[in-house]
Amino acid sequence: MHKPRTPLRALGVAAAAAVVAAGSVVALTSTAEAATTLGASAAATGRYFGTAVAANKLSDSTYVGILDREFNAVTPENEMKWDATEPNQNQFNYSSADRIVSHAQAQNMRIRGHALAWHQQQPGWAQNLSGTALRNAMLNHVTTVAAHYKGQIYAWDVVNEAFDDGGNGARRDSNLQRTGNDWIEAAFRAARAADPGAKLCYNDYNTDGQNAKSNAVYAMVQDFKSRGVPIDCVGFQSHFNAQSPVPSDYQANLQRFANLGVDVQITELDIEGSGQTQADNFGRVVKACLAVSRCTGITVWGIRDSDSWRASGTPLLFDSSGNKKAAYTSTLNALNSGGTTPPSDPPTSPSTPPSTPTDPGTGACTATISLNQWNGGFVATVRVSAGSSALSGWSVSTTLPSGAAVTNSWSSQSSGSSGTVRFANVSYNGSVAAGGSTEFGFQGTGTGPSSATCSAS
Ligand code: XIL
Repeated sequence: MHKPRTPLRALGVAAAAAVVAAGSVVALTSTAEAATTLGASAAATGRYFGTAVAANKLSDSTYVGILDREFNAVTPENEMKWDATEPNQNQFNYSSADRIVSHAQAQNMRIRGHALAWHQQQPGWAQNLSGTALRNAMLNHVTTVAAHYKGQIYAWDVVNEAFDDGGNGARRDSNLQRTGNDWIEAAFRAARAADPGAKLCYNDYNTDGQNAKSNAVYAMVQDFKSRGVPIDCVGFQSHFNAQSPVPSDYQANLQRFANLGVDVQITELDIEGSGQTQADNFGRVVKACLAVSRCTGITVWGIRDSDSWRASGTPLLFDSSGNKKAAYTSTLNALNSGGTTPPSDPPTSPSTPPSTPTDPGTGACTATISLNQWNGGFVATVRVSAGSSALSGWSVSTTLPSGAAVTNSWSSQSSGSSGTVRFANVSYNGSVAAGGSTEFGFQGTGTGPSSATCSAS
């Protein structure tokens, strides 16, 4: 799946230099062959070292030079957020995000998707929604964006910053929270259905040490694990400065989350400061991750100080001219000092295996529904598959359980909203090659249908 870029050479060093026992700490003693870039050094212990990337900087040769040399993972800094990817309801725009994705893929870098559901950087239309309409819009967004990038994302920040800072361990008040406390698990379920291969993370700040907020996130993760809500990882943003320093129990906090059976990742690291103090803090954070076997990687929130969202705090590893800072050297040395090795991932199996339609024969088609159901509503994704002949048009009908109603549909023309509802192709998806398929979707209130009938037209 997601292979580190230079694992073999690096692992050769590790194997030669260390006695490796299951679960033991790997000590790298060979300095002569220590990796000379952040990504290669992280890969030596099976981890990634990433950075936030801004699409509009991909034409800056200094920036791209450092990116391609040092990093083996990227997180789009703003380009996958809701306002960027769905500026108008049901009109999706992936142009900036795709530039980052293409660059990363060409460089064999992992991609962290950020962020599907968040109270900030929502498009105006979503800010103005509430209740079921907002819940449905959010789930449609999660489903559509995760499906667009299916198979391409190492880990998604499915939900970002959903807890309050007030020391009360409560959920943050937001339009999403007001749709009902189950909005987070509904988002995770939708993301799993749309991209079963991506790791699904909850991501937050001020959760880096043990405190009321991180305790509340911990309780949520524990609850999700006990009820089978799909969650694979917790992201610790790790934005540090004088008011919010690296906590003394940083490593212990990562470890207690890992002990719940999730990966942990450092997702947005920056540490304001300069010189040796800043360098020492970066070293501490990196060593904490390396000491926790399920800490699978570290992402810094930008490349040069001038690229930072907090540029005046000079919180990154390269100065504004792109020179390596003391913080860089300390980070690289910490990575090269070795650490535990993350467990390899078992193959991920889809939560609901797709059913295989039988060949319907000449001129016929089949429709299969995958349903994301929550208490009070649903999103249905329908796959229309042609048989051994091409289709020039199709229509799908389904009968909703009583009390259910379709509220919205996409990539199809619907007629009726309750009882038997019919969906016909639109101009761009009526032609389906023999053996090929296309998808459309709809959402609604109540209980969604599990089967549908397709006819060629
Ligand atoms: C920041 C970006 O860096 C800025 O460019 C943007 O103006 C605001 O968002 N937590 C997160 C990130 O999860 O998405 C934020 O990124 C920083 C705080």
